[in-house]
Amino acid sequence: MHRRIIAPGALAAASLLLAIPASAASFSPGAPGIGDPYYPAYGNGGYDVSHYDLRLRYQPATDELEGTATILARTTQDLSRFDLDFLLDVSEVRVNGAKAAFAASGQHELEITPKTPLPKGTPVTVVVRYSGVPSTKSAYGFSTWHRTPDGAVAADEPEAAWWWFPSNDHPLDKATYDVSVAVPDGTQVISNGTLQSTSSRLGWTRWNWRENKPQATYLATLAVGGFDITTSTSDGGVPVVNAYSKDLGDNDGAARASVERTGELVDWLSGYFGPYPFASAGGYVPNTTTGFALETQTRVYYSPRQFANGSNTSVVVHELAHQWYGDSVSIEGWKDIWLNEGFARYAQWLWSEHEGDGTTRELADYVYAAHPADDPFWTVAPGDPGPDNQFSAAVYDRGALAVQALREEVGDDAFFAILKGWPQEHAYGNASVADFRAYAERVSGTSLSALFDTWLFEPSKPAAPAARDASVARSSAAVAQPKSWKKIAATNDVH
Ligand code: ARG
Ligand code: ZN
Repeated sequence: MHRRIIAPGALAAASLLLAIPASAASFSPGAPGIGDPYYPAYGNGGYDVSHYDLRLRYQPATDELEGTATILARTTQDLSRFDLDFLLDVSEVRVNGAKAAFAASGQHELEITPKTPLPKGTPVTVVVRYSGVPSTKSAYGFSTWHRTPDGAVAADEPEAAWWWFPSNDHPLDKATYDVSVAVPDGTQVISNGTLQSTSSRLGWTRWNWRENKPQATYLATLAVGGFDITTSTSDGGVPVVNAYSKDLGDNDGAARASVERTGELVDWLSGYFGPYPFASAGGYVPNTTTGFALETQTRVYYSPRQFANGSNTSVVVHELAHQWYGDSVSIEGWKDIWLNEGFARYAQWLWSEHEGDGTTRELADYVYAAHPADDPFWTVAPGDPGPDNQFSAAVYDRGALAVQALREEVGDDAFFAILKGWPQEHAYGNASVADFRAYAERVSGTSLSALFDTWLFEPSKPAAPAARDASVARSSAAVAQPKSWKKIAATNDVH
């Protein structure tokens, strides 16, 4: 609280009132969660981050991570205190230059009390010094920090940031990033965006990565290890940077034969979704043992197990589709996950058709027929699946069926206009399923409330669409499995 000598006179009193914008009583703590009903403690209230500057050092031999995060934010309320989401050990916090009090609380909260309360609408700079061994930290009994024989990987959904940087950990608060990490010479660092520079000193090499477009916290990634890095440019002019662990063993050839197709597939997807939204594209394949892939912004994370049965362009298409559907246009809340997975899955269907491995229609008929009405598959509503079913097959497969149903309802011209227009409509922002429905109704001139209810919200098997040959759609025996099916299904089902 500022103290001032009060000059006599009404004018001075009035200006004092202006200088102190509100009574101390109106300054209150920011909420410990951003307000997502699926994950009440994820993210925080009271401020909005615009930039993360992470200046770190990592020692693969011991899993020690240390450094400084400088966070640029703006307050959205009169703030007496606020939280960041974080698990490592904090040694100092400064807010606007002054040392701030801090304490760990809850599962992953770092509670920060600035020396002076922060008025609403003002810029705030938060500096957090920290260190720790991420693999020793957990929240809710789990960890998403993946150690490898020669390093580590931070990549997971919906939470990965707590193990490596303090953040407002929710897709609603997107920000730009500078990620600078020093590692022992001969070790590589992979992160999002563009590699600005590397420099070597006293046995340590510092890698400086920059993502200059807004990025959700779960899409920020870090990988340290022995990587072979390739660079190229797509025909459409998108710079591509890929990285392969030097330790991929038998999966090495299939991984490269898939991920080296990134430039071609980015250009192909641009035909459906419009211009690629970022300054760089690519992926990395570390020597992890978990099965999934993740659409980490510009630099997709692929488990080597995605390539265990040979090359897999389907998973590359899926993760690249997310760059438009998920990364540039991010969900507003985790209940909106269909906007990510339904469309990334549908992109795999389009690719299957392009490759002659089964048409979108054949895939739709197959999924529809493969799950009889009493299959619990139909009890999950992709439009609001609940936190336990966020990545269940229904979100992906029934989700893509919903996209196909939309296509059949509005016709190809309106459908492909929607598919390409939506990423422009909300580029670099956030949107909900309700926003998508409103947009699709506007572009198609059709009311879609019944269609959305049936395919996204009813916990039961919808009747076959009128356009569909009902005899085919009803009898599972009559519907052959499309050639592309196994690879498509494995994208979210490798564990
Ligand atoms: N969004 C990812 C995908 O590409 C799914 C990640 C699921 N998370 C996990 N830890 N398995 O489908
Ligand atoms: Zn996905």
